[in-house]
Amino acid sequence: MGFDIELYLSTRKKIIDKKLSELILVSAESMSRLKESMRYSILAGGKRLRPILCLAAGEFVGGTIEKILPISCAIEMIHTYSLIHDDLPSMDDDSMRRGMPTNHSVFGEAVAILAGDALLTDAFLMVASEGISNGLSPSLVVEVIRDISKAAGSQGMVMGQALDLALEGKEEVTLELIEEMHSLKTGALIQASVVSGARIGGATDSQLSQLRQYARFLGLSFQIIDDVLDIEGGSEIGKARGADARRKKATYPTLVGIKKAKETAQKLTEEAIFALKDFDEKAEPLRQLAYYLGARKY
Ligand code: IPE
Ligand code: IPE
Ligand code: MG
Ligand code: MG
Ligand code: MG
Repeated sequence: MGFDIELYLSTRKKIIDKKLSELILVSAESMSRLKESMRYSILAGGKRLRPILCLAAGEFVGGTIEKILPISCAIEMIHTYSLIHDDLPSMDDDSMRRGMPTNHSVFGEAVAILAGDALLTDAFLMVASEGISNGLSPSLVVEVIRDISKAAGSQGMVMGQALDLALEGKEEVTLELIEEMHSLKTGALIQASVVSGARIGGATDSQLSQLRQYARFLGLSFQIIDDVLDIEGGSEIGKARGADARRKKATYPTLVGIKKAKETAQKLTEEAIFALKDFDEKAEPLRQLAYYLGARKY
């Protein structure tokens, strides 16, 4: 029987959701509003693409789910923090996320900012503490922290978000600049998901560099499709459509048109799969994930 991507995604999503739910508990302490807010966004749904990619890359090179899971969940916590902050009035000012009112619409801006701060910081606590208790070597834990922090901070996602805001309303934006923004704001964390999973799984240098290439193409394609779905996605995207036009965002479709944007995303998906050409059938989940994401509707 062929590989069943839907089943693969749903079983992994269940494992990730369960772990995240155990990690972020609402206690009876006086500041439980913060925990409620963190839990609200982390359990609001979401495709769990980044942790799934992290697990898939790690398992591909021979790692076990148990060892990779905490690190994959830490990346999802960082991603969720980025969404909470991305939706704030001072950023994209959005009211719907993952099919629910945005965090700040429910908990207020101050708590939403703090929930994001806490998710980001707690993610690194988890990598360090669960990494060590799961038997990863201290040097491996440090390498993973370096990969993830580099991807999330001023050399990655945060810089991409700053660029995204700086380009709002700008007339003369080049394709190179949009690609740089996409690679930073979205590509970097997707790449770190794949690379950190592969590191924990024991990847060789050559496997790592091929997987890095795969993730680079996948990340760029992912953000182009996000831009396309903002224009023509259905209600399943779980966020308001047309948000980019409202904010005069620099996007792939605004620059090259929707048809060319879709063709580019398709080409990048093929390049991602081509980057795996030296790998045998064990890389099938990674290939199928790329096809799936290339055709996603949300
Ligand atoms: C949305 O990411 C933000 C981008 C980087 C494009 P996802 O499309 O992965 O959002 P969730 O996690 O499934 O909600
Ligand atoms: C956000 O890009 C990327 C992040 C790092 C959060 P978008 O602003 O396009 O993401 P959505 O469309 O709101 O999910
Ligand atoms: Mg944004
Ligand atoms: Mg946004
Ligand atoms: Mg978007």
